[in-house]
Amino acid sequence: MNRRHFIGALGAAAVLQASSGSAGTPGAMQTRVIPASGERIPVIGMGTSGTFDVDEAPAELAPLVEVTRLLLDARNSLIDTAPSYGRAEAVVGDILQGGRWRERAFLATKISARAGDDARAQWQRSKTALRTEKVDLLQVHNLVDWQQNLAFLRELKAAGQVRYVGITHYLDHSHDTLAQIVDKEKIDFVQINLSVVARSAERRLLPLCRDRGVAVLVNRPFEDGRLFAAVKGRELPAWAGEVGCASWAQLMLKFALGHPAVTVVIPATSKAKNMADNLSAGFGAMPDAAQRERIAALFA
Ligand SMILES: NC(=O)c1ccc[n+]([C@@H]2O[C@H](COP(=O)([O-])OP(=O)(O)OC[C@H]3O[C@@H](n4cnc5c(N)ncnc54)[C@H](OP(=O)(O)O)[C@@H]3O)[C@@H](O)[C@H]2O)c1
Repeated sequence: MNRRHFIGALGAAAVLQASSGSAGTPGAMQTRVIPASGERIPVIGMGTSGTFDVDEAPAELAPLVEVTRLLLDARNSLIDTAPSYGRAEAVVGDILQGGRWRERAFLATKISARAGDDARAQWQRSKTALRTEKVDLLQVHNLVDWQQNLAFLRELKAAGQVRYVGITHYLDHSHDTLAQIVDKEKIDFVQINLSVVARSAERRLLPLCRDRGVAVLVNRPFEDGRLFAAVKGRELPAWAGEVGCASWAQLMLKFALGHPAVTVVIPATSKAKNMADNLSAGFGAMPDAAQRERIAALFA
C-alpha cells in the first residue's frame, strides 16, 4: 500500500469514526505486568486471523485502520498476527507504517515453518511484510518443531531482533504439552485458548504459568464468533453491571481477564463498533472467582 492508498483509507476511517464514536470509557485501560521484565501491557489486545486478510482497496482497509487506531489509543497494545493469516501481516505492516503507529504497538507474530532454513526464510518475509526490523514477541505457532524453533527464537532474542519469545496453540489437547514446556523451559509468553465454554487451561496450565512467571495471551475468547449465536436475542443478566459489563462480548472478555494468570486477551474484529465494545472490557471491575462461575453458567 502506498501513502496515497493509506490516506484514502484514513479519510474513510475518519467518517467511520464519526459514525461509530470511540470507546467512550473514561480513564486509562488496565494494564498487567509481563513477569519476565516487569513491563506493563494493556489487558485488551487484538488478533488478526481472518479479519486482516483483506485487499488493499480503501473500502476494505478503512474499517481496519479505524479498528487499529482505537486499539492503539492505549499505548503498547498488543497486535497478534502470523505469516499463515493470508495478507494479515502485510496489512498490519501497512497500517502501522501509514499511521506512523509502529512505536505505539506491541507487535507479535509467529514462526510456523519447519525448523531451519524454512523458519529463517519465514522470519525474513515477516519482517518485510510487517515493515519492521524487530518485533516485540515472536511465538512458535501451534508447537511446530518447537524445540528447534524455540532455539531459533532465542537466538533472535539474543541478537536484539525480538524482545520476548513464546509458544502458541488453540486447542485443549495441546495444554499438557504446553504445561511441560512451561515447567521445563524458559519462555516469556504462552498463547492459548480460554473461553466461557473452554476451560481446560484452568486445571493445570494457568496455575503453572502463574507459578513460573510466564505471561498468558488468550486467543479465541469468542470461539471464533460462535458464542454470539448462543446468546443471540438474550437479555444481559441484571448483575452484569456489577462486573462493569454492558454487552455479552464484555462478559466473555472479562471472564478471561478475571483469571489471575491471564495477561492479555486478543479478540479479533473487523469493525470499529465491536472494537470499541471489546476495549470497554479493559476498564472497571474484573470478576472474582465466584463471578467468573456465574458468567460461565450463562453459557452452560
Ligand atoms: N494457534 C494460534 O496461535 C491461534 C489460533 C487461533 C487464534 N489465534 C489468535 O487469536 C485471535 C482471536 O481468535 P479468533 O480470531 O479465532 O476468534 P475470536 O476473537 O474468538 O472471535 C472473532 C469473531 O468475533 C467477532 N466479534 C469480535 N468482537 C465482537 C463483538 N464485540 N461483538 C460481536 N462480535 C464480535 C468477530 O466478527 P467481526 O469482525 O464482525 O467483529 C469475529 O468473527 C486470532 O485472530 C489470532 O490472532 C491464534
